[in-house]
Amino acid sequence: MSELDTLRTELLAAVNAAADLKALDAARVDALGKKGRITGHMKMLGGMEPEARKAQGRSLNVLKDEIAGAIEARKAALEDAALDARLAEERIDVSLPARSTPMGRIHPISQTIEEVSAIFGDMGFSVVEGPDIETDWHNFTALNFPEGHPAREMQDTFYLPPKDDGTRMVLRTHTSPVQVRTMLEQAPPIRILVPGRTYRSDWDQTHTPMFHQFEGLVIDESTHMGHLKGCLIDFCKAYFEIDDVKLNFRPSFFPFTEPSAEVDIACNKKDGQLRFGHFGDGHDDWLEILGCGMVHPNVLKNCGLDPSVHQGFAFGMGCERVAMLKYGIPDGRSFFENDVRWMAHYGFLPLDVPTLTGGLSQ
Ligand code: PHE
Repeated sequence: MSELDTLRTELLAAVNAAADLKALDAARVDALGKKGRITGHMKMLGGMEPEARKAQGRSLNVLKDEIAGAIEARKAALEDAALDARLAEERIDVSLPARSTPMGRIHPISQTIEEVSAIFGDMGFSVVEGPDIETDWHNFTALNFPEGHPAREMQDTFYLPPKDDGTRMVLRTHTSPVQVRTMLEQAPPIRILVPGRTYRSDWDQTHTPMFHQFEGLVIDESTHMGHLKGCLIDFCKAYFEIDDVKLNFRPSFFPFTEPSAEVDIACNKKDGQLRFGHFGDGHDDWLEILGCGMVHPNVLKNCGLDPSVHQGFAFGMGCERVAMLKYGIPDGRSFFENDVRWMAHYGFLPLDVPTLTGGLSQ
């Protein structure tokens, strides 16, 4: 075998044995690079006799072309194999079922608004809303808070800058101004539930500057305190999803109701766990959940109604507060921290719409 035949065999073997593009390039450099073996033979042509140089030059060119062709062919084969491997690895089985746990969650505040609206909706209340930025008159004066009366200080009000006429708008401190708006717009009988944002300058474990309330208002010609009690007891049974709810109506004061009461719910705090409906084992306690009362005659008058004809009751309940009690959420500030881990834990599945028949919070 001539020297070139041996070289050809060795170079072709190296090209065809290259397992990847990197090894193939090394084989190319070894054959055709500046210091490659074929190039080395080319360099020796200059020192040869003309006849021999001609023959050797032709042979070297043929060999060079053959090796370059072999490299191209090997390269194409390796690239095809790499593509096949990638396609096999990235294969998607489109027949697999969709992921069973959706990432999105319903916020406990939205869930609570849905639950409470479903319960009062079932009792014949319609849902009404009002503006977050209120006049001082709707938020206080019409609700029987006299000008300069200390009761206005009870509510840590956020005031807006005074207008040209000296009056100041407020961020509503409660949902009660929607009582006034509704009585001014709508003739009795009235039966409304008002969910909405409210604002007070306060910040600790159980208070945030923005929070949510539910206002209830019933006005007709015969509603009395007994109806108020029955309505709230029925609500608590449905909302907390237990039959043996115990409520304590404790005399209290609000300028816009007379008589007024705050309602406490009996709970059990055994072993640091808060539960409703496990009473009588010495770990009973009371937790305040709402304020209520019969609508004050002055409020009815301010809204154009005759107190000798019309009467009714109102209540106001903290949304975060009842959500915290029902779902065991320890810190009210966490509602507004936008922490996805908190949402994954306390949030609700989007398609579980609360209804009385289908279940409120399962
Ligand atoms: N508005 C009262 C509050 O925010 C609650 C309330 C509403 C009390 C209706 C009585 C009647 O504290």
